[in-house]
Amino acid sequence: MEKKFQKYEEFTNKWTGVISRFPLIEMQGVPLRNYIVQNWSSISAFEPDPSDMLIATYPKAGTTWVQEIVDLLQHNGDSEACKRASTIDRFPFLEIQYPPPIPSGLDLLRNMRPPRFIKTHLPIQLVPEGFWRHKCKVIYVARNAKDNLVSYYHFHRMNKAQPEPGTWDEYIQNFMRGKLAWGSWYDHVKGYWKEREKRNILYLFYEDMKENPRREVERIMHYLDLSLAEDVINNIVELTSFKVMRDNPMANYTFVPKIMFDHSISAFMRKGEVGDWTNHFTPAQSQMFDEDYSRQMAGVDIPFRTSL
Ligand code: A3P
Repeated sequence: MEKKFQKYEEFTNKWTGVISRFPLIEMQGVPLRNYIVQNWSSISAFEPDPSDMLIATYPKAGTTWVQEIVDLLQHNGDSEACKRASTIDRFPFLEIQYPPPIPSGLDLLRNMRPPRFIKTHLPIQLVPEGFWRHKCKVIYVARNAKDNLVSYYHFHRMNKAQPEPGTWDEYIQNFMRGKLAWGSWYDHVKGYWKEREKRNILYLFYEDMKENPRREVERIMHYLDLSLAEDVINNIVELTSFKVMRDNPMANYTFVPKIMFDHSISAFMRKGEVGDWTNHFTPAQSQMFDEDYSRQMAGVDIPFRTSL
């Protein structure tokens, strides 16, 4: 606990006066944080090792959940080993950039030896080319648009590094127009879906993970060419349940200082459910969203589910 407290203090000292609601700049049609765009040439030139693995998601689709599963699988279910550091230190966030002295994703990557488990929210066309050239393993997690939007909305409220969310109505419009950080949800999920077979991407759904976490943990295990004992797999399912992760200080993002993540506004581990959108969308908003969705997703057969 002492060590964790020191780390939190260290973070707070570094981040005070540095964090603000950073503006977005469009890069190749994708709105990204200004610092990401300013450092784009080094991000896109990142050269992974063939043993590195990428966990790619649209923000709030279940990144942290899959990260924890992957780490536990790699450590044969050893929960203490997976508490060696916080999620942000265990999984460098490829494109993330802050003003100094906060380390960037690339800084963390430089200090870590392969194999590394790298997080990205980049749409597929912006992923550094080296990942494909080296045939790195890539896990993609997708979540149905309405729940993804709700989760992102609450995240914008509590994350002081993201632009102001505006009203709920404005937020829905911005989501539909692809104006939020990391761009269009529609293009994101379609981009990875179209390439999943050709590029050997493991394409997962948040809803499938909720429905049958054991089945999905096993899918990830096979993709990683691992074979763990039955009781270890059961334990990993338990350790990555919403309740256990919510109380895990190395996975629940309470390690991020309050000046950036204010959990009193909305917890990072907020609800972890499928169908929470029904508590947010009015019938009129839902109808308008669905009509637009049919247009944007026309001709695409990604099996999203908005309820279980
Ligand atoms: P909610 O805001 O709907 O609760 P990401 O990690 O991509 O930022 O996604 C965060 C979302 O995943 C949040 O959704 C969070 O609660 C949910 N989540 C994180 N761990 C989870 C788990 N073990 N089980 C279910 N949902 C989880």
